[in-house]
Amino acid sequence: MSATASRKPIGVFDSGIGGLTVVKALMRELPGESIVYFGDTARVPYGTKSKSTIVKFSMENVEFLLHFGVKCIVIACNTSSSWALPTLRRYFKVPIIGVIRPGARAAVQHTRTKRVGVIGTEATIRSRAYELEIKRLDRSITVLSQSCPLFVPLVESGWLNGAISSQIASTYLAPLMRRRIDALILGCTHYPLLAPVIQRAVGPQVALIDSATETADEVKGLLAWSESLSTLRPPRHRFFVTDEPHHFVEVGERFLGHPIRSVERVNQR
Ligand code: DGL
Repeated sequence: MSATASRKPIGVFDSGIGGLTVVKALMRELPGESIVYFGDTARVPYGTKSKSTIVKFSMENVEFLLHFGVKCIVIACNTSSSWALPTLRRYFKVPIIGVIRPGARAAVQHTRTKRVGVIGTEATIRSRAYELEIKRLDRSITVLSQSCPLFVPLVESGWLNGAISSQIASTYLAPLMRRRIDALILGCTHYPLLAPVIQRAVGPQVALIDSATETADEVKGLLAWSESLSTLRPPRHRFFVTDEPHHFVEVGERFLGHPIRSVERVNQR
């Protein structure tokens, strides 16, 4: 690819705020890259919706990002990655990376007991996307899945610690622990923020697999392979949302680990 291609931004979309965990990992791994982030805050959550709705929204999100001449698109949202990735890849020429394969690959590398747990939204678990990807890599692995619908509102309300969060985590995770998993995929954008609570619930012998970090590695590999890595500093990041930016700015800083200076509101059809 040319030097002009290197200078193009990376597009990232999510159903809302959660994808900022992926942005944080991208900024850490690829500090020279500019990012255009699109959070569909007016239509969040995707995790309770049907496949056709998730695919429709995801297509519109990609179309939005293409206006910025992005060199690749990262689907930060596990729910979108689970249901929409194959359709998006068929429709659009731009390279599109989801979070499922990188997370699944890391879990396969980690497990010794060949028992892997997956947690995510209802839609992600219903799709069986992680399970199918893990089985594709190693058929001998048993995958135990559990949806954790209360985790997203807990994180967005800032309940990252304390007795209630611990009790909810232990209740969700007890069935997986009875099956002696030794790796647990945090298959939702919000879950890395609950990592300390989840780790306490499962114990130190279970490795937590953060799809965000694994995906940032995958993006780095793709850009290196296509010779379109940018070393340009300082990068320029832009954030777009479909609802009032206030909540995004306030809660988003918790996800990103530093202040978000400007957020623009756009109207999605
Ligand atoms: N971003 C979603 C995910 O990673 C969680 C929030 C939602 O349900 O939209 O699955």
